[in-house]
Amino acid sequence: MKEFTYYTPTKVVFGVGTEAQVGALVREQHCKKVLIHYGGGSVQRSGLLDRIKASLDAAGVSYVELGGVVPNPHLDKAQEGIALCRQEGVDFLLAVGGGSVIDSAKCIGYGAANEGDVWDFYEGKRTPTACLPVGAVLTIAAAGSEMSNSSVITNTDGGWKRDCSNDLSRPVFAVMDPELTMTLPDYQTASGCVDIMMHTMERYFNSVPENMELTDGISEALMRTVMANARILHADPKNLKARSEIMWAGSLAHNDLTGCGGEGDWCTHRLEHEMGGMFDVTHGAGLAAIWASWARHVWTGAPQRFVQFATRVMGVEPGAADADTVERGIQALEQFYREIDMPTSMAELGIAPTEDQIRTMAEKCIPGGSVKSLTLEDRIAIYTAARG
Ligand code: NZQ
Ligand code: ZN
Repeated sequence: MKEFTYYTPTKVVFGVGTEAQVGALVREQHCKKVLIHYGGGSVQRSGLLDRIKASLDAAGVSYVELGGVVPNPHLDKAQEGIALCRQEGVDFLLAVGGGSVIDSAKCIGYGAANEGDVWDFYEGKRTPTACLPVGAVLTIAAAGSEMSNSSVITNTDGGWKRDCSNDLSRPVFAVMDPELTMTLPDYQTASGCVDIMMHTMERYFNSVPENMELTDGISEALMRTVMANARILHADPKNLKARSEIMWAGSLAHNDLTGCGGEGDWCTHRLEHEMGGMFDVTHGAGLAAIWASWARHVWTGAPQRFVQFATRVMGVEPGAADADTVERGIQALEQFYREIDMPTSMAELGIAPTEDQIRTMAEKCIPGGSVKSLTLEDRIAIYTAARG
């Protein structure tokens, strides 16, 4: 195993109705004023926001609120939140929503606790030294932000979608009631399942020669569980057991458990973030559209891991040649994506980038990669192959 640090400070409160505990959980933080942060309306329609406020009222916690976070959350909304926090003396951020809301809260937390332009942290110009504490009430299983150290924000000035990763932003608690995800549109449920798969796969596919047997076993069980329960939800969206399995998988897929001892290769995410920045696509669906093209382009950099994925995760019988086994493994994952109505190309995703747009995305994309360190030409080739 490679050397690693595993840090998961988030208190997880899981189960139906657990959102009623929010007031008590916030009160444990000894804060003066809370900002309730949420998205475009689902928490009002479901009545969740009212229940959260009732729980805070009962605990005697005072709060202000800021809604309107969009998927692929925008920097200007976070800046609005930073100004509000300063004006109101907010010292705790309560994100009620999905990855976009939690990431926006983390951005507000950085901006309110540090001087200067918060975007510097996303451009890598400076490193934050503090972050207001964040708590999350999760409404969609997908991004894993409820336990991750990451915040992904889009600056609409130039279409830059960038990530700031720092342990300071790991939520202090995450309330996870799988029943809250029942109101999700099917497309969001399926996109979330893809994102959970991909957070595991980005750590699973790497070229380190070291053993990571236990981590691999956890990852493989997680991926098989997600696929089985995503199929159940496709047929039966109200299945609470399946929603519970998916929700817990979403957190474990991205709290770094599935990366312990390995190295990770985040190229599919980096390629997708450019698609999100330019075309505002749903993150998980974007990952589904690009992954197979990446895999076919790079698998020779770590053939044994692709064979292991094909046989242990996708249930493929090993063939005489690795190339055949690997290809059937990739096809099996594409078939799974189709079964849950996810795209396997950009055409199916509903975007048709021009050659100029592909070059722009490839140039903006952050370089790197463990299975293969992608050159500009590699990135152009992968985008072109994914066009469909
Ligand atoms: O805005 P509302 O009205 O709440 O609607 C949301 C939104 O339209 C809706 N939704 C959420 N919960 C719902 C619901 N609708 C009905 N019922 C519910 N219970 O779903 C839509 C998508 O929400 P969003 O928060 O955008 O989804 P997700 O959790 O997939 O987050 C995506 C964002 O997270 C980033 C992505 O890049 C993207 O910007 N990521 C963040 C990561 C992290 N911080 O660790 C890692 C990921 O790799 C990812 O990059
Ligand atoms: Zn993701």
